[in-house]
Amino acid sequence: MMPLQILQPSVRVDLATWCMTGSDITCSEKRLRQLDGVFADAEAYRRADPERLVYSVQAHLPVDDGTPGGLFFGTTTIEPGEVGGEYFMTRGHFHASLDRGEYYWGVQGEGMLILMTARREVWAERMVPGSLHYIRGGTAHRVANIGAGRLIFGASWPSDAGHNYDEISRTGFAARLMNVGAIPTLIPE
Ligand SMILES: [Fe+2]
Repeated sequence: MMPLQILQPSVRVDLATWCMTGSDITCSEKRLRQLDGVFADAEAYRRADPERLVYSVQAHLPVDDGTPGGLFFGTTTIEPGEVGGEYFMTRGHFHASLDRGEYYWGVQGEGMLILMTARREVWAERMVPGSLHYIRGGTAHRVANIGAGRLIFGASWPSDAGHNYDEISRTGFAARLMNVGAIPTLIPE
């Protein structure tokens, strides 16, 4: 009888940085110039270097976007920094298919996962290496880096979740995470 095929892994994750190498991996970056309107202090935003890197995302997308029943996997790295006392953070989104959930987990650094329901109730969860965050469907999510070094976190979400960035672009979160005397503080809008 012919032995069955044994394959090598097609993707590898560096367990220190969660950087991925292999097939079906996309990379994207967000610089300050691409985050117009995200930070509250427009004057501080204008003064900042538009080319400054805020965060980068690697994603392993083994199936087409929108495929029912599949999963995606990603790693996000947020640089340390602030704009007008507001920590560097991701844009944040609801899922386009509103009921789809997601896992986030902390890998390196100190962060805060900021969550908001459709009724605009906001809270935050501290993100540290090893923290696991289950994001329920219908909950907008963004992550801020509250530490002095890089924040790295992992994510896995359904391949038919999609991203609705427009809602947050138009109406924002109902609270902002500000550095108030070196204490991360959620301040209602
Ligand atoms: Fe998501």
